[in-house]
Amino acid sequence: MSSFSAVDVIITKRDGGVMSDASITWILDAYLKGEVAEEQMSALLMAIFFNGMNSKELGVWTDQMISSGERLNLKGLSRPTVDKHSTGGVGDKISLILAPLVAACGAAVPQLSGRGLGHTGGTLDKLEAIPGWRAFLTNDEVREQLEAVGAVICAAGQGLAPVDRRLYALRDVTGTVASVPLISSSIMSKKIAEGTDALVLDVKTGRGAFMQDHAQAVALAETMVRLGIEHGVATVAQITSMDAPLGRAAGNGLEVTESVEVLQGKGPSDVRELTIALAQEMVKLVGIDVDPATKLDDGSAFEVYRQMIMAQGGDPDFVMPLAAQRELVVAETSGIVQSIDALSVGIAAWRLGAGRARKEDPVSAAAGVLTLVREGEHVEKGQPLFELHADDVEHLQRGRETITGAVVVGDESVNVRPLLLERISK
Ligand code: URA
Repeated sequence: MSSFSAVDVIITKRDGGVMSDASITWILDAYLKGEVAEEQMSALLMAIFFNGMNSKELGVWTDQMISSGERLNLKGLSRPTVDKHSTGGVGDKISLILAPLVAACGAAVPQLSGRGLGHTGGTLDKLEAIPGWRAFLTNDEVREQLEAVGAVICAAGQGLAPVDRRLYALRDVTGTVASVPLISSSIMSKKIAEGTDALVLDVKTGRGAFMQDHAQAVALAETMVRLGIEHGVATVAQITSMDAPLGRAAGNGLEVTESVEVLQGKGPSDVRELTIALAQEMVKLVGIDVDPATKLDDGSAFEVYRQMIMAQGGDPDFVMPLAAQRELVVAETSGIVQSIDALSVGIAAWRLGAGRARKEDPVSAAAGVLTLVREGEHVEKGQPLFELHADDVEHLQRGRETITGAVVVGDESVNVRPLLLERISK
């Protein structure tokens, strides 16, 4: 018989008290074993949502999430390990370029990734647009590929922080996702369990981000940086703007094509700028003195990308087929682009077929949106703003409805805020 009661833990948190270390360890363990009911954990999550956790509670909560599962052992590789996590944005294909780029600089990048849900795409969905590419690797295969190639992007194994999977599903249906302690423990438990030496966080803020408010994004970044450092992972964060979509492409195959363009020294300048900025942070954290821009420009990052895709069964030279249905959306007036709503573009890409509503839904490789203009740019009436791609007319129709009004054209000159907004370190 346990000396704890779930009701007492809930009441402590409901009334603004501090949960003891032992009660946190107990309740997460008992929940995973099915000894604490879903409705009790729901109530505790809601109490945490409103009353937060102090840094000691959060440290113990995160520890217990980590020790609910396995920890990958990446010690003994010939290169230092460093990873990146983004809180998710529209057109955020940075991982596809960044992992091989940082490997080309001499580090090993274990990118254990997920799939998209809702309006932000998932890295695995993007790479699965390449026929034959395999998302699932064993822990031994991850180690071998890190040693041989230097970069792995694959599915996070079921064994990492299993209590997070249960809690995340419960948060999703109880309105308790948007909580700084719950998000930070969820993200950091998986990253710490993955065994990386260092971590760079890209915390998005703006219209297309999870944390629309800058101050909240800073609070999340500071909390995650602290948790990482407390757990022996050298961690820094960049707060970056997610008002407009990143680059031109939003959608799985379209984003792979754009990533390859950037790896070949072409592609949109914002994607290149953010990738290089994050790569600089990553190499610095592990003490490598190489300028990542040189590895992008001399083709070595592209070569690592090719090896990374081939090592997981994919053809790096595969040319993404164009979607069967394509349509341009044009400007109704002339003027200056005041804003491009990343959220609307993300939802349009999703409705065109690039995203899923339920986790078991299939996604289209070809569907998505190309954004053809940038904020602050002058457009003429009739000039194309977006190109919509879908597999069939029904999806095209759904995407068209969502994208209407996503670009605001006006007379004012526009001060576009920079991509990199603030750096958070200890
Ligand atoms: N991503 C996660 O892994 N967890 C969260 O809580 C939010 C985003």
